[in-house]
Amino acid sequence: MTPGVRPLIAGNWKMHGLAAEAQALARAVADGAAGLKAEVLICPPATLIAPLTQACAGVVALGGQDCHEAAKGAHTGDISAAMLKDAGASYVILGHSERRMAYRETSHRVRAKAEAAMAAGLIPVVCVGEPEDDRLLGRAEEVVAEQMAESLPDGFGAAGGVVAYEPVWAIGTGRTPTEADITAMHAMLRAKLAEAFPAEGAGLRLLYGGSVKPGNAAAILALPHVDGALVGGASLVAEDFLAIARAAG
Ligand code: PGA
Repeated sequence: MTPGVRPLIAGNWKMHGLAAEAQALARAVADGAAGLKAEVLICPPATLIAPLTQACAGVVALGGQDCHEAAKGAHTGDISAAMLKDAGASYVILGHSERRMAYRETSHRVRAKAEAAMAAGLIPVVCVGEPEDDRLLGRAEEVVAEQMAESLPDGFGAAGGVVAYEPVWAIGTGRTPTEADITAMHAMLRAKLAEAFPAEGAGLRLLYGGSVKPGNAAAILALPHVDGALVGGASLVAEDFLAIARAAG
């Protein structure tokens, strides 16, 4: 945890949630999140952002899981940052490895999306993380540093942007890096953020994501430069997600 920084616990619901169950989950999270030190964020499917604003009101923030880089136009099936904002979002996840892989999203595209998000008044949560091969070959830090450098636009620091380090091989697998590996990666990312954004980089939130569960959250969140978590599977169970949020202090 970085001293003086409010931790962020973000739930990435991915493509899960129909109206009734989503309302119940959001309400349960909001009930348990009141008064916590951590800021709690839910990123549901875009169709659920507006319907969940009431259940979340004032306690839990809402975010999208992606946006297009254009403000509007002929982009069938896409959603703009302004639309997410209009629906009640304040954050948007960008460059998740599932999108980088399934839609071949490049870091340059992620940077364009982050620019669009900031222009619409959303806080971008930019994901970076190495595939397992790069970890095994000893080049995880190099790959992730390059991804981050290419994915973050000018002004990211002033916008209070968030970076989430999510090793691809740890997502949804139950496997996590060692505490030493997370510490080393986050220290490297912190140094690069401070260099790229001298005014704000030391205080920007740097999340860890990938198989964060109630059982490992406290240990991970206690590591230096880990200012919160991006949580997939465990964010779909209110008690698990709240246990992780409480572990942030
Ligand atoms: P997981 O997903 O917590 O289920 O591993 C994390 C993510 O994809 O953001």
